[in-house]
Amino acid sequence: MGFRYVVEHLEEDEETSKAIPKWVELEYMHMRSLAGPGAHVHFTHLSKSSCQTLTTLFSADTGSRLAGASVHSEPILDLMQHLSIPMEKVCLLDPKAGKEISPEDGDGRFECFLFGVRDDPPRDRTSELRVLGFPTRHLGPIQMTTDTALGVAKLVVQDKIPLSEIPYIDHPTIVFNPKESVEMPFRYIAENGEPKLPPGMREHLHEDLNKSFDF
Ligand SMILES: C[S@@+](CC[C@H](N)C(=O)[O-])C[C@H]1O[C@@H](n2cnc3c(N)ncnc32)[C@H](O)[C@@H]1O
Repeated sequence: MGFRYVVEHLEEDEETSKAIPKWVELEYMHMRSLAGPGAHVHFTHLSKSSCQTLTTLFSADTGSRLAGASVHSEPILDLMQHLSIPMEKVCLLDPKAGKEISPEDGDGRFECFLFGVRDDPPRDRTSELRVLGFPTRHLGPIQMTTDTALGVAKLVVQDKIPLSEIPYIDHPTIVFNPKESVEMPFRYIAENGEPKLPPGMREHLHEDLNKSFDF
């Protein structure tokens, strides 16, 4: 069976009509290419309208290098019950875990790897999942975006690359032009000396920057 990743949406998303923010959409799309072919990514605890948006986006994006994806309004515990996955077979990626992730964690001891969506400014939102009692692993001392965390876990458990051998860029400054730049408070995978951002994220950050000056 291929590797399975679960991304639980932790934002307060009470309104069923509320759409997911653009940055979440871009990170979710990126996760399919980071997980790669043969893997499957489940997106859980989404509002009905977010499920519809993502289903439309995913079905339009059908590259052969992408992991399979499914969207669920149910939270992780319901999905586990549905798929008959016991608690001890789910590995929560938690910055506060006592143990670092290692290539052996991909040898079948876990049936899926669980992530929470990021919250900015940093607050301990992973705690909402931690209290459920999953086994946990950390990915080093610096906070990553959720798509980066999934990409790094994949490199370790699927490709067997130790955490310390993955190239990173911490807190990069994304420069748009001589007058506009933004510092990102996260660790990213480095690719050709640049942070590996989701396609479209750079443009989105620039638009967002311009919007915040639109009084
Ligand atoms: C942006 S982080 C959320 C950080 C947030 N301050 C928290 O702890 O809830 C989003 C998700 O990526 C994963 N993650 C990010 N950095 C990590 C790290 N250094 N170790 C383990 N998991 C990490 C976790 O699953 C986390 O829920």
